[in-house]
Amino acid sequence: MREVAIVGAGMTRFGELWQSGLRDLFAEAAVEALELAGADHLDAIYVGNMSGGRFVGQEHLGPLMAEQLGMAGVPATRVESACASGGVALRTAFLEVASGLSDLVLAAGVEKMTDGADVTDVLATAADQELEAYHGITFPGLYAMIARAHMDAFGTTEEDLAHVAVKNHRHGALNPKAQFRRELTVDQVLKSAIVAEPLRLLHCSPVSDGAAAVLLCPLDQARRYTDRPVKILGSGMASAPMALANREDLSSLDAVRLSAERAYKMSDTDPGKIDVAEVHDCFSIAEICCIEGIGMVEKGKGGEAARTGFTALGGRRPVNTSGGLKSKGHPVGATGIAQAIEIFEQLRGEAGERQVPEAAIGLTQNMGGSGASSVVHVFGRV
Ligand code: COA
Repeated sequence: MREVAIVGAGMTRFGELWQSGLRDLFAEAAVEALELAGADHLDAIYVGNMSGGRFVGQEHLGPLMAEQLGMAGVPATRVESACASGGVALRTAFLEVASGLSDLVLAAGVEKMTDGADVTDVLATAADQELEAYHGITFPGLYAMIARAHMDAFGTTEEDLAHVAVKNHRHGALNPKAQFRRELTVDQVLKSAIVAEPLRLLHCSPVSDGAAAVLLCPLDQARRYTDRPVKILGSGMASAPMALANREDLSSLDAVRLSAERAYKMSDTDPGKIDVAEVHDCFSIAEICCIEGIGMVEKGKGGEAARTGFTALGGRRPVNTSGGLKSKGHPVGATGIAQAIEIFEQLRGEAGERQVPEAAIGLTQNMGGSGASSVVHVFGRV
């Protein structure tokens, strides 16, 4: 396998972007990535997207996006793994470059969620239809059950959950691309409306539009495009039973643990070597379970990490310096690529007020549904 680097990145602002269509969002992010690298051609395009068909009536995104870039003819494929679609698009592009099949590949993600679709209903298609969605459960409901299981098993409190949202909004306030650039207090979170008990409005990631794109090439060609490439050291992916009823322990996310173990093995790293991480905080409980799953904290200790400042900017292991899904926004298909862009900028020393000093190794963890799929990447400064 060849060594692979990211040499360009671009993303739209995340938020309610009614002035732009799906293809406009994609093109804005993709052109920014190509321009940053000074690249004028592509060998392949992967488009992470969860549900263009249900959100805006548009499927078959590969050729549509290639045409929008003026690159009709280039092989272009839409990749779907629910909210992990972007992360899996990145992994697919990585494998294609690593295999030697292609030299310059765009991994992108795009979603347009605010154009009037019944978002809760569309998102529920990522749950088990027969065992879960048919009976009326929603994604906030599924994660509420995970939160209850974690609280019962480890004494995690509603305040612990609130501290995750407060931390990520503090980080997101520093990110010009974030949907919500306002800080929150624990009290505001605890007084916000109940969505699915114990999860409140301010524990939830929002409904968002947006796109993100990164450009990959073999490491030994990277200097043609940038003097600061970021190497992809490892990629791991895993699946787990989709319905919560079929899992042995609701408080653990097995696909997260397995995907992280595989990425650490490929990259010859371990959780102690990670300087900065972006994990899938679609609900505040998800960040708690994910940092346990990637081994950043011991099982059961995730609840105290945000409260004690361990995972805050300035803490020992900063997590979701971009603001995470909670504050930056969660246009589901774009999220995995946006996570990679935050790490790309951190490792290049370009994260501005969010910069983690001396960040050399970073990790992204992107999850589908209530944890039935997870993909982890480890990145290194070159
Ligand atoms: N975080 C912070 N503020 C939020 C927010 C969020 N998640 N969602 C909405 N808001 C704000 C809005 O900006 C608005 O503020 P304003 O009154 O100052 O303009 C206010 O809260 C009400 O917004 P509204 O759009 O009416 O909220 P809603 O009730 O329609 O939706 C949720 C709120 C939590 C139900 C919705 O954001 C949601 O479903 N989130 C989860 C998405 C999801 O499941 N993603 C996949 C995860 S796997």
